[in-house]
Amino acid sequence: MDRIIAPSLLSANFARLGEAVSLIHNSRAEWVHLDIMDGVFVPNISFGFPVIKSLRPLTQKTFDAHLMIVDPDRYLDRFAEHGVNVLTVHHEACNHLHRTLSRIRELGMKAGVALNPHTPPELLRDILPITDMVLIMSVNPGFGGQKFIPESLDRIVRLRRMASETNPNLLIQVDGGVNAQNAAQLWEAGANVLVAGNAVFGAPNPVDAIDDLLDAR
Ligand code: DX5
Ligand code: ZN
Repeated sequence: MDRIIAPSLLSANFARLGEAVSLIHNSRAEWVHLDIMDGVFVPNISFGFPVIKSLRPLTQKTFDAHLMIVDPDRYLDRFAEHGVNVLTVHHEACNHLHRTLSRIRELGMKAGVALNPHTPPELLRDILPITDMVLIMSVNPGFGGQKFIPESLDRIVRLRRMASETNPNLLIQVDGGVNAQNAAQLWEAGANVLVAGNAVFGAPNPVDAIDDLLDAR
């Protein structure tokens, strides 16, 4: 199965975001992870459309937006207009997930659902056939640099098992506390996309750190 690294800009220097995107552009990371926080769904505020607009011309790589906001339906069209390729909403923020995912796909983006650490992957059974990606949060969302919650590993295994029946092409993304020590286990458990903030932008050489995550075994 293909391996994809999605460095999270949340851990980059916000005074030099363009350089962070150029670094990703010149690395083996295929995706750029954009953490969008509204200060309501999570206890932190990050960045929004003007930032995405400034960064989009710097690379053709996949823009992967993780919406940690209430009422994401209000903004789906605008993320599409801003050139986002993969759009992930939180299960906990959606009352009509079927409608939301269908709309994301209609807008030409891949549709993702994120699960907080307390939400059982089994809740997604009926929606998996119209889901392109499930994001397993391996920390409580809101901040970079937190410690990986070890129970997340079993959640990935359970999700992969369930997906093998209903959607074998499902992408499983893991986000929070990913590093070179746990990456091999995460790939092994069935993850395809690893998000890494601190492990990439906190490293002395971010490009080497990306290689280490990709090649972990
Ligand atoms: C946390 C965000 C993550 C965060 C990951 O709410 O969703 O994407 O940037 O950062 P690290 O890899 O440092 O845990
Ligand atoms: Zn994220």
